[in-house]
Amino acid sequence: MTASKISFACAPVIALLGMAWGIAMAISTDHSTAPVHAHLNLLGWVSLFLMGIYYKLHEEIDGLFLARIQAIIWAAASLLIALGIALIHMNNPVGDPIAAVMSIVLFLDMILFVVLVAKSRQ
Ligand code: HEM
Ligand code: HEM
Repeated sequence: MTASKISFACAPVIALLGMAWGIAMAISTDHSTAPVHAHLNLLGWVSLFLMGIYYKLHEEIDGLFLARIQAIIWAAASLLIALGIALIHMNNPVGDPIAAVMSIVLFLDMILFVVLVAKSRQ
């Protein structure tokens, strides 16, 4: 599976989760977990889908192992950072290290994406 296919498969599913979270927040009138919803939507839906479009437009990197790994890590870390933030809001101490580690993972994964963009024919 190419990096674009992985991105296009995962991003809409994460969008559904993010939107369901938004609807649940709106129904409950408790908006305190907006950062969970915001990051599911902005990391897992918008950013991942944008990366997928870039990969699709640059087929010379789309099939690379590193590109596929980049998309898989991004999808998994978007879900895990949202889980970490949700646990923080539930006052569960496990949430903090999960969110902290995932923020570094996402940052390193963005560096990998930058390297892949640089490697592609612009
Ligand atoms: C079913 C669709 C959606 C519902 C019901 C929904 C609902 C909400 C609610 C209730 C809040 C809290 C607002 C507040 O307290 O200020 C919120 C915040 C937010 N939503 Fe959504 N949302 C939806 C879709 C989306 C999508 C698709 C995105 C992004 C692509 C998005 C991005 C955000 C962001 C970034 C915030 C935080 C805004 C801030 O902190 O000022 N939402 N949403
Ligand atoms: C490593 C990745 C990221 C980390 C560690 C991070 C961290 C944070 C933190 C700590 C907050 C404040 C949350 C709060 O007030 O409780 C925040 C808010 C926000 N971030 Fe991020 N962020 C990341 C990536 C992004 C990206 C890529 C986007 C957009 C594409 C984004 C959009 C936002 C928005 C819109 C808010 C306001 C949401 C709200 O108030 O609910 N973040 N982020």
